[in-house]
Amino acid sequence: MTDTKKLFIKTYGCQMNVYDSERMAEALGTKGYVPTDTVEDADMVLLNTRHIREKADEKLYSDLGRLRKLKLTRPDLKVGVAGCVAQAEGAEILRRAPVVDLVVGPQSYHRLPEMVEAKGRVIDTEFPAEDKFDHLPERLSPRGPVAFLTVQEGCDKFCAFCVVPYTRGAEVSRPVDRLLAEARNLVARGVREITLLGQNVNAYHGAGEGGAWTLSRLIREMAAIPELARLRYTTSHPNDMDDDLIAAHAEVPQLMPYLHLPVQSGSDRILKAMNRKHSAEHYLRLIERIRAAQPDILFSSDFIVGFPGETDQDFEDTLALIRSVGYGAAYSFKYSARPGTPAAEKPAVPTEVADERLHRLQALLTLQQRAVQEAMVGREVTVLYEKAGRMPGQMVGKSEHLHAVHVQDETGRIGELARVRVLASSTNSLAAVRSSDLT
Ligand code: 5AD
Ligand code: SF4
Repeated sequence: MTDTKKLFIKTYGCQMNVYDSERMAEALGTKGYVPTDTVEDADMVLLNTRHIREKADEKLYSDLGRLRKLKLTRPDLKVGVAGCVAQAEGAEILRRAPVVDLVVGPQSYHRLPEMVEAKGRVIDTEFPAEDKFDHLPERLSPRGPVAFLTVQEGCDKFCAFCVVPYTRGAEVSRPVDRLLAEARNLVARGVREITLLGQNVNAYHGAGEGGAWTLSRLIREMAAIPELARLRYTTSHPNDMDDDLIAAHAEVPQLMPYLHLPVQSGSDRILKAMNRKHSAEHYLRLIERIRAAQPDILFSSDFIVGFPGETDQDFEDTLALIRSVGYGAAYSFKYSARPGTPAAEKPAVPTEVADERLHRLQALLTLQQRAVQEAMVGREVTVLYEKAGRMPGQMVGKSEHLHAVHVQDETGRIGELARVRVLASSTNSLAAVRSSDLT
């Protein structure tokens, strides 16, 4: 008899959570857990939640309702809740959902191996003094040529709408040597592209030789790893885009010409109420400076509509900012009050008004996104192949600009970087052929 047990992890939302789920799976691997894709097979189910916008609690409790039924037939099933909702509402979850055996916050998941062996129900939502990354096992074989690497967590910015500073805690940067070792390890296992992750990634200030390193210094050092073809980073705050990070976009060929730089609103009044600590003008000037360093760069952003107090004029200012930037991609959300944040106390914009604004904003962003994609037709781009496509002889990967590209390439291999020519643009992807196949 083996003591292999099966682990099913459901990850809600963002890249940071995807990274955390992988690391939690690796931590539980030390206790004999192997991943499974079917919840019915699992000996343990872990729900890795997030809290940021959507009705996270409703989703969680409906998933827990389903697990309660499953547990009736499988009394040994272990159920865990991890991530931001666990952090914010751990005790409440244990009280409301008897099906839950353990609750673990984002800073404590290196303790999971002990927690699964504990008797009874356990909760750990501390912000421990030790660095969880020091206590986690080495990265396992990655599944493909593209990987995420968390370099910093937490945020000290306290935007008035955001729970991150409360659920993820203060800004903490991982030390340089650990990150370089993890990056080298990923590359040795076939990774060609790494996205450096952090809630406020460009505020990175990890300990390294000679003192605290900036993100640009870390990027320059990582770019020296042979075989690491591409670097990206996300998510950045406009106020932390320093001169050297901008210069890196001109000087480091591995740094891809794509930047997610959330602005949230184009109205100075609303930016102030959001506690963003920058104006629309400052953001636009910054975009200009980055474009001067790397003219081919594409920008994406996050927008919130219907923030308390947002008038028609404020909203028009946001549309004007979008028109003047011209985004390659964007994420837009209707404001939702998060308990405990300063903005939650303020009177809300009527739902119909916020809905209508979201609709108009998304229509404009979709037009821009389409135009940017269309403009790629006829261009040569480089694609990192991530998997085979559905059609025979087709490979799928991302361009420098993070466009999904389907390439007709009979001899393509996963992990290969191919020069291709874009032939057509459809809703969410580009179609291309390998340049060497062109006469
Ligand atoms: N309501 C709506 N959107 C939000 N975001 C964060 N908090 C809220 C909220 N309370 C959005 C922001 C942020 C992105 C990750 O989620 O646009 O940049
Ligand atoms: Fe939240 Fe980002 Fe603002 Fe930090 S900078 S408080 S993570 S929206």
